Amino acid sequence: MLIKPDAFERRLVGQIISRFENRTFKIKALKLIRPSRELAERHYAAHRGKPFYELAVSFLTSGPVVAMLLEGENAIEIVRTMTGATEPCKAQPGTIRGDYTLSITYNLLHASDSPENAEAEIAIWFKPEEILP
Ligand code: CMP
Repeated sequence: MLIKPDAFERRLVGQIISRFENRTFKIKALKLIRPSRELAERHYAAHRGKPFYELAVSFLTSGPVVAMLLEGENAIEIVRTMTGATEPCKAQPGTIRGDYTLSITYNLLHASDSPENAEAEIAIWFKPEEILP
């Protein structure tokens, strides 16, 4: 997952990490990074050409991002449930987006949506030696 620049600006990084730790996910890798445009473009490659692509890429490069690799049973589904829907009207209270944002763009975090995408995103954001065994 990525904790985005708006979370950093709003000092929500610790609270967001805490939610996942409280749920007993294990942090396998963690880094604070100021992504280059090239890195952000690789991350959002599947969205290239969509109307929101340009804004999503420029937002991701606008400030620090925390990249975090979490491990746990059913991690992808549970992390996405805890993250909340992308569409603000559908983000339920109790989720991170449902509690802290009204914006479809400035939406605090990104969570991988499938094992295949998680594998690809882990390879984009982490070197093998940065990941705990
Ligand atoms: P994220 O989960 O990082 O994946 C793509 C991002 O593009 C998304 O969160 C939003 O920040 C942004 N975005 C903006 N508009 C849309 C949209 N209509 N549909 C999906 N993503 C959008």
